[in-house]
Amino acid sequence: MKIVMVGSGYVGLVSGACFADFGHEVVCVDKQDSKIAALKRGEIPIFEPGLSELVRSNAAAGRLTFTTDLAGPVSKADAVFIAVGTPSRRGDGFADLSYVYAASREIAQALDGYTVIVTKSTVPVGTGDEVERIVRELRPDAEFAVVSNPEFLREGAAIEDFKRPDRIVIGAEDERARALMAEVYRPLYLNSAPILNTSRRTAELTKYAANAFLATKITFINEMADLCEQVGANVQDVARGMGLDNRIGAKFLHAGPGYGGSCFPKDTLALIKTAQDYGTPARIVETVAAVNDQRKRAMGRKVVAACGGSVRGKTIAVLGLTFKPNTDDMRDAPSIAIVTALQDGGATVRAFDPEGMEQARATLPAGVVYCSDAYECVAGADAAVIVTEWNIFRALDLDRVRQAMAAPVLIDLRNVYRPEQVRAKGFTYLDVGRGS
Ligand code: UGA
Repeated sequence: MKIVMVGSGYVGLVSGACFADFGHEVVCVDKQDSKIAALKRGEIPIFEPGLSELVRSNAAAGRLTFTTDLAGPVSKADAVFIAVGTPSRRGDGFADLSYVYAASREIAQALDGYTVIVTKSTVPVGTGDEVERIVRELRPDAEFAVVSNPEFLREGAAIEDFKRPDRIVIGAEDERARALMAEVYRPLYLNSAPILNTSRRTAELTKYAANAFLATKITFINEMADLCEQVGANVQDVARGMGLDNRIGAKFLHAGPGYGGSCFPKDTLALIKTAQDYGTPARIVETVAAVNDQRKRAMGRKVVAACGGSVRGKTIAVLGLTFKPNTDDMRDAPSIAIVTALQDGGATVRAFDPEGMEQARATLPAGVVYCSDAYECVAGADAAVIVTEWNIFRALDLDRVRQAMAAPVLIDLRNVYRPEQVRAKGFTYLDVGRGS
């Protein structure tokens, strides 16, 4: 199969490399000259475990190529995936579809022979209809179908998620397009991955519903964590006790500083807007988004409280800045609100992240002191806060940390340590919802 990925960002690059690995001939297209030039040199613009090896081996085998020219590859393609960004639109929170529609217009001009146009980006219900309308208007003669095939990749585990998916959702309106999509995913059919064939609108909504539900699970357990702190219960045990009920499931019940990233905050907001537009407000999701927003800043207040009610003139070490481990992504990371709250309270913030330093410098407010490792970060600090659960923070030399700090206060917002273990080392230790 000949496949074109329009947009060589996170989703386009991972999907393109994985499709090439299935044996398809894949061309990744992007408007940014510098990105394509770097990819051609084998340089991967994002941090994702296993991705650079996958890109290099498939490029070397000639199955994966990169270009800024959309028209040439699209004219030869069986399937063209739209994997451009759909950020929140400034001002109103609706998904900004301008990149999707611009790509659709360019694809339309280049179509030659039957082609399936697939929306891979997360797009609101009805976007596929609009893409179809745009293409039909520009090219009444073209033979094409528009399919929704949302991605369910987690950053940091994207290749694994692509190759061993819980399910594949294909929203198509005709059989010819479904048959072509079956060819595209054939290796996964052979692996007996569940394939869900739905209407296009159903597929579009399924993606939002899944993300909103996961965001709800996290927010629910975060609320239980707060309650646990008040009543002296342990949220990890509560989560275990809940999760062993198969109807609930154990995953996404880790209490923490609130969810972040490029997906949950943006997608919950877009779903809220769509639901309002259709006159069926998604009240639960509205509450989840509001509670999660407030939580991030509340974590800053938790640190202030641990420092005796004020951080003015104090130094706070922040360990972990990205929204989760194994990524360099800082989008909507809880660290942003936490660092801001600490600075607002008059603290000097020292920070370290294993992969996200460059993105952090571009994202966090000015005045943060960036350090080259965890021990340098905690040097002279009046408190240290674990914000992201990178593995290296799970195995810190606590004696060395205590000796380096001005005061041994550890606030563990990801519950990576056992309280008794840290307290035995002479720390004042706070966690999230373990009633300890
Ligand atoms: C999420 C979904 O998990 C993917 O299925 C989906 O494809 C993707 O969004 C997307 O829409 O593209 P991702 O944002 O990469 O993936 O990250 P997650 O692993 O879902 O984590 C999101 C946030 O929730 C992180 O800030 C994480 O720390 C937090 N989280 C997650 C918790 O606080 N507790 C948990 O139990 C799980």
